Amino acid sequence: MVEDLRLDSLEGVGPVTTRKLSDAGIHNVMDLIVRGPVEIAEITGMEKDTAEKIVNKARQHLVEGGLIAKDFVSATEIYKHRQSIGKITTGTNCLDTLFDGGLETQALTEVYGEFGCGKTQFAHTMSVMVQRPKEEGGLEGSVLYIDTENTFRPERIVSIAQAHGMDPEKVLDRIIVARAYNSAHQTLILEEAGPVIEENNVKLIVADSAVGLFRSEYLGRGTLSNRQQKLNHFVHLLSRIAETYNCAAIATNQVMASPDVFFGDPTRPIGGNVVAHTSTYRIYFKKSGKKRIARMVDSPHHPEEEVIFALGEAGVIDPEDAEKKTKKTTAKKTTKKAKDSEDSEVESSAEISESDTVESTTDIPVDDSEPLEE
Ligand SMILES: Nc1ncnc2c1ncn2[C@@H]1O[C@H](COP(=O)(O)OP(=O)(O)O)[C@@H](O)[C@H]1O
Ligand SMILES: [Mg+2]
Repeated sequence: MVEDLRLDSLEGVGPVTTRKLSDAGIHNVMDLIVRGPVEIAEITGMEKDTAEKIVNKARQHLVEGGLIAKDFVSATEIYKHRQSIGKITTGTNCLDTLFDGGLETQALTEVYGEFGCGKTQFAHTMSVMVQRPKEEGGLEGSVLYIDTENTFRPERIVSIAQAHGMDPEKVLDRIIVARAYNSAHQTLILEEAGPVIEENNVKLIVADSAVGLFRSEYLGRGTLSNRQQKLNHFVHLLSRIAETYNCAAIATNQVMASPDVFFGDPTRPIGGNVVAHTSTYRIYFKKSGKKRIARMVDSPHHPEEEVIFALGEAGVIDPEDAEKKTKKTTAKKTTKKAKDSEDSEVESSAEISESDTVESTTDIPVDDSEPLEE
């Protein structure tokens, strides 16, 4: 751990307080800021005043060290600070255009859309891209991947890495996967993530799905506010971690289809306002035959825009690349050449997409039969 971030580097914080804090999962000065005084008082049993003093000291300490921004800053300073925000390329021209260069650090990006629209594929792709050298659009960082639906696939990481000319073994080594079994566990993982993020130079945190476990555990209207409160805590924590540690964060969210809505888009994100209000960017993925549409829904500075992308062995890809592959496949088929491995890959992806469309129509009402909150 960086010497400066040790809890006992704060004036007035001795071994007893340090112990109390680390027993409660607060391991460094950053964690103090991320959790905030109210929560710290709650989990350590400290007086709220004391917790406030410690958090203020932590803030001051980090401001002096240049690690976080001051409370009062000029717009010029904010502008300068924003220039230092890292961007991670998506590996595609289309999505890079939508993101205005790439996925930003110090921000939470929510990706929502129905089953099979490519949220997990996007998360896998970004887990590879963040590791690329800076000159190639990456941040040379590692990944903390919180998998709540057991859909993380190292094989996909290997294919995506190979497609981008990267060493798959090295890429796998730099993805720390945390499988979350229930929503409390999912939150705990994030609460304990500070030292992992720091020690491994994590530059991307993925929560795929951020909402699913909360949804399945808290069923029915009666538990809705309780669920929203817990989800709120998780999402805010994720967003504060992204800001404090200068990481990018992706939260995926499956939408439900409301068949009774005839105008506009019949889908709404399940997390409702909680996720929407916390995330800096919101991207909506939608199926359109074999292609996918991505729309920037809510952004402080991007125009509301749509682009078309596709899914392939290389993860999220430009639609032209998908077409090129299809043409190549057709050409090879007509000349009746023996199938090579690439050929069958393309075919199978086409097959998946087709069956996918059928699947999703039957899937949605069952999967998302729960009433909307708000
Ligand atoms: N190796 C692959 N090559 C091409 N397409 C793939 C591959 N693996 C998955 N896909 C596509 O990704 C879709 C699933 O996307 P996914 O990200 O899992 O959806 P979700 O939004 O539910 O997380 C599949 O329907 C398929 O079209
Ligand atoms: Mg998924």
